[in-house]
Amino acid sequence: MMGFAHLIFLSTFLSVSMTSETFDAMEGEAFVIKCPRWSSAVKFTWYHTHTKKIIPAEEERSRVFSFKRFLWFLPTSREDSGNYTCDIHFSNNSTKSFNMSVQVHPYKQGVCFPSQIRYPNDTGRGKIVCPTIDNYTNATIIQWYKNCKPLQGQRYFKAEKYIFINNPRKEDDGYYTCRFIYTHKGNVFNVSATRIFISKAKHSPLPPQILFPKDKSVVEVELGAPLALKCQARLGIKKQPIAVVTWDVDNIPVKSLDFSRFHEKNHFFEGHEQEHYRETTLHVTEIRKEDLQANFTCVAVNEMHNTKATVTLQLKAQYGKIYDAYVIYPKSHTNEANFVEYFVYQIMPDILENKCGYKLCIYGRDIYPGEDTASAIEKRMQKSRRLIIVLTRQLINCKEQAYDQHIALYNALIQNDTKVILLEMETIGTYEKLQESLRFVIKQQGTIKWKKQHTVLSQSSNSKFWKQVRYHMPLRLKSSHSADAG
Ligand SMILES: *[C@@H]1O[C@H](CO)[C@@H](O)[C@H](O)[C@H]1NC(C)=O
Ligand SMILES: *[C@@H]1O[C@H](CO)[C@@H](O)[C@H](O)[C@H]1NC(C)=O
Ligand SMILES: *[C@@H]1O[C@H](CO)[C@@H](O)[C@H](O)[C@H]1NC(C)=O
Ligand SMILES: *[C@@H]1O[C@H](CO)[C@@H](O)[C@H](O)[C@H]1NC(C)=O
Ligand SMILES: *[C@@H]1O[C@H](CO)[C@@H](O)[C@H](O)[C@H]1NC(C)=O
Ligand SMILES: *[C@@H]1O[C@H](CO)[C@@H](O)[C@H](O)[C@H]1NC(C)=O
Ligand SMILES: *[C@@H]1O[C@H](CO)[C@@H](O)[C@H](O)[C@H]1NC(C)=O
Repeated sequence: MMGFAHLIFLSTFLSVSMTSETFDAMEGEAFVIKCPRWSSAVKFTWYHTHTKKIIPAEEERSRVFSFKRFLWFLPTSREDSGNYTCDIHFSNNSTKSFNMSVQVHPYKQGVCFPSQIRYPNDTGRGKIVCPTIDNYTNATIIQWYKNCKPLQGQRYFKAEKYIFINNPRKEDDGYYTCRFIYTHKGNVFNVSATRIFISKAKHSPLPPQILFPKDKSVVEVELGAPLALKCQARLGIKKQPIAVVTWDVDNIPVKSLDFSRFHEKNHFFEGHEQEHYRETTLHVTEIRKEDLQANFTCVAVNEMHNTKATVTLQLKAQYGKIYDAYVIYPKSHTNEANFVEYFVYQIMPDILENKCGYKLCIYGRDIYPGEDTASAIEKRMQKSRRLIIVLTRQLINCKEQAYDQHIALYNALIQNDTKVILLEMETIGTYEKLQESLRFVIKQQGTIKWKKQHTVLSQSSNSKFWKQVRYHMPLRLKSSHSADAG
């Protein structure tokens, strides 16, 4: 029985002595420690634990002073190492005491943090918060360091009080120090604080990027017509815990607007290398005059940051379409003769232009890579009645920039009023690895499949393949001179 009582006594004793917290500071920097917050506290007293010497409030030229529940060192000095107690006085005359131990680490060349790190480790997806900075009003971070070397590079996104490491890996583990300055009554002090980061990334955010619409772009509309505005953003690697893509109309969230006029629909999907995309479409049931004055802003948010893109509306110009079809195909990056290019440059123009009298716009023939591409493509796509998309196996797992750019434009601009014709030049089998928007169209309308044996007959506009293509092309009013009119 005695032994038992002893144990209880011992554990009580241990828990008491463990309430003494230790704080580490660098010599010559500003430093502050805090007594716990207590709602019924009326007064705090700070003193040196052993001498019981009270630490008074700030006076002129005082370096160490108390201010309510804070004990300030402006700046620290080596002799400040020691034990401090704060007494909390309550309204009913009772008090509570807390012991704190301060260790001031002498300045050494090349050492930027104390050997002991007392701030909790950051494990995770890349966010590293600058410790203690909230204790210092109007502090500004001057520099971040990893293992005492200044942090540089695009992988580090710097916010006011934290950094974000883009897609953190094992190599990112280490000691991260933020150095900030604090100004007190005109005197400037350095402060630094260090914490350990251990990456544990299951998913990681990327700086949110809106792929479309382009910021400040103008969308052509007709009064009374419905409108669907799509916004697509890339938010990170793998599914994100915070992933919002939403629309505001003149800064008012669509959710707060009249549902019968505005509503939004969204979905997410995974792109190349597990990139997480979210797409939200704002549906306007009918365009009114006042909408032409409004700012439609897409906002993309993840745990790292947020970004916006604003579009405005203008009445549709009354031009006619000048091409019957715009042709998109994956460009080969080898110099070898390639059937798809032969098909796009030779066979298709021969049948559709020469024999059937259509006018095509072919990227690489009518628009050259490098020519102010984005806007040239945009204009010509808008002036095309159809969009012919050539599908090959090359599209699977390949990042063909021009192709991606085209598809993005298609998504952004013309999806609603241009019909798509999908030509499957090689059996693709599973469409799963294709872009989401392509999968969607394939699911809706299927593809026209090119068969090897077509090659022999390919020059005939009467082949089954070309008949199917022509069926989807716009009606030709003027018949061409060739014998394909049937
Ligand atoms: C501070 O208190 C601890 C026990 O809590 C003691 O071990 C240490 O020696 C004290 N430090 C000083 C400088 O008195
Ligand atoms: C607290 O102490 C003061 C002076 O010692 C006394 O006047 C007051 O009544 C006390 N209050 C309580 C709630 O005990
Ligand atoms: C604080 O430290 C002093 C001296 O070591 C000790 O007497 C006192 O009990 C401690 N107080 C607390 C609340 O731990
Ligand atoms: C923080 O990380 C260091 C280094 O891996 C480790 O030694 C320490 O125990 C960790 N601290 C906590 C509180 O997890
Ligand atoms: C912090 O900065 C703001 C704006 O610059 C200023 O109004 C305020 O007085 C500053 N506060 C302190 C405590 O310096
Ligand atoms: C703050 O640190 C920088 C860099 O170490 C140093 O150049 C500067 O003199 C320091 N300022 C003060 C007020 O200690
Ligand atoms: C729309 O945005 C522009 C540019 O930011 C701004 O000048 C204009 O006042 C905004 N219009 C409305 C109605 O908020």
